Order: sequence, then structure tokens, then C-alpha cells
Amino acid sequence: MSTSSLTKRQWLACPAPAKLNLFLHITGRREDGYHLLQSVFQLIDRCDTLDFQVRDDGHIQRMNHIDGVPEPTDLVIRAARLLQSHSKSTYGADIYLHKNLPMGGGVGGGSSDAATTLMALNHLWQCGLDQAQLMQLGLQLGADVPFFIFGQNAFVEGIGEQLQAITTPVKWFVVIEPGVHVPTPTIFSAKELTRDTKPVRITDFSNAAKVEWKNDLQAVACALHSEIANAINWLKQYEINQGDAKMTGSGSCVFCAFPNEDAAKKVLQQVPHHWTSWIAKALQQHPIIL
Ligand code: C5P
Repeated sequence: MSTSSLTKRQWLACPAPAKLNLFLHITGRREDGYHLLQSVFQLIDRCDTLDFQVRDDGHIQRMNHIDGVPEPTDLVIRAARLLQSHSKSTYGADIYLHKNLPMGGGVGGGSSDAATTLMALNHLWQCGLDQAQLMQLGLQLGADVPFFIFGQNAFVEGIGEQLQAITTPVKWFVVIEPGVHVPTPTIFSAKELTRDTKPVRITDFSNAAKVEWKNDLQAVACALHSEIANAINWLKQYEINQGDAKMTGSGSCVFCAFPNEDAAKKVLQQVPHHWTSWIAKALQQHPIIL
């Protein structure tokens, strides 16, 4: 982000991009209940947008109401308050959240909103935290938040906090929202969840055959919501490599990769109208550069 100083009355508009999990393996469980995972997190060009304006009085508020995101639990407000208390800033902020990403969709919308809030207010309030400090703060808000502050496509381990930048091919994705809201804790706590997938190493990516590009959370989500299974099965008829069509995160969105925009658009046109669907392009990095 540029360090040009903004006057307090200006609004700063910032994107919060979504992610897709190109695979997601559960390799174990920590004593605190959090799961150890391995995944490739891919940034895409579908975004929420947040507008920030600095206040002198320390007050932090969201300016627009969004159904399903009550202010006390809103990750944007929690992120702003966390940064304010951590940095002992006396500033506050008015914040608009323009929600474009589905909630409970597995595309990281809430986490990305929180990451963008930390990055934007760190700049506007001149807190001076570096990327590593912001990532550490972000982890208190959710396991996916550090990835969005890291800002590059990544091989992710631990509970989501161990990140290694990885180059992914530029691809286009068709994403389907099956119309169900999947609470992440419900999926992770399911008895039937496979928790012992054999770990892969980052060097295995040079040999595609060594990595199974599956999502271990998918079977549980499909068993709870048949619409997710229906959307995956629909997309499977267009997959180029077997297993390309899959769920992202803990669901409910499902996606399939295509080599170019035309191929993705052709499939998008065929998606049954009872599902919301869109195409997205792989991003190489987060639009906000720290
Ligand atoms: O960290 P986040 O708030 O996104 O996680 C929501 C819930 O998902 C956690 O409370 C936990 O139940 C589950 N989870 C997990 N292992 C992870 C990430 C999330 O068990 N690595």
C-alpha cells in the first residue's frame, strides 16, 4: 500500500479478495481441537470492498447493515478493535463493507475482510506493524486471516498459519454457490471426518502424481447438504482432469478450473439457474501490497 498520507476526511477503498482451496487435507488434530491441515490457497479476483475513514474520537463503527453479519461478531469490527487495542491507537474508523462474497461459502470472505481491515487501518492509523506482526494479530481472528495478509498463493500448513509462497498457473474458475450456508465448526467437528491423510511435501508439487488434489472436508459437507454434492456432480461433466471439480474450504461453494476465460464462460452459461454462479481469475498476489 502506498504511504502517501490521507487526510482524515478522505475515504480509502480497499479490496478483500476471495480464495479457493485447490486441495485441503486434514493430517491431524491438535489438543485444543483445531485441525492440522495442508492446503494450497489460491487468491482469485472476486472481492468484497471496504471503505475506511479515520475518526479522531476512537469510535469504530460499520456504516451499513448486512443481514447475517451482526456488528458484535463482525470480523471487520473485531479486527479494527484488536488493532486499536494492540497498537494503543486513539483513532477510530467509519467502515462500509460492500459484501459480494458469499458467507459460509468457503471462499474466505470474512477472513479476507478482517485481513484488509488490519492492513488498511495499520496504514491509516500509522501503527507501524510489519507484515509478520499483522499476520500474528490476524491469527487471533481466524485460521485463514494470516494467508490474506501474507498476500501470495501459498502452500499452507499448521492450522493455517504456516505459509510458503507457491507459484500456481493462471487459470480461470467456475464457482457455484449451492445456496446453503455451512458453519465451519460443524464440518470440522463431524465424527466421520477423515483426519489422517498422509502429509505431502512442498517438493511433491513438481510431480503432480504425488499429490491427491482432494478436499477432506467435502464428504462430510456433501452428506449434510445434498445440494453441494449435486453441484460437484454437475461440474464433473466439464472437468478436464478427474477430480478438478471440488468444494473449497468447509463449503459450500464448489469450483472447477479451466485453462482460459472462454472455456470457463462456456461452462458458466450452462449452469442451472437455481444456483448462483460466477467465474474468477487466479490472482498472482493480493491487490494490496504491504
Ligand atoms: O479459525 P476459524 O474461526 O476460521 O475457524 C472456525 C472453526 O473451524 C474453529 O473454531 C474450529 O472449530 C474449526 N477449525 C479447525 N481447524 C482449523 C481451522 C478451523 O478445527 N485448522
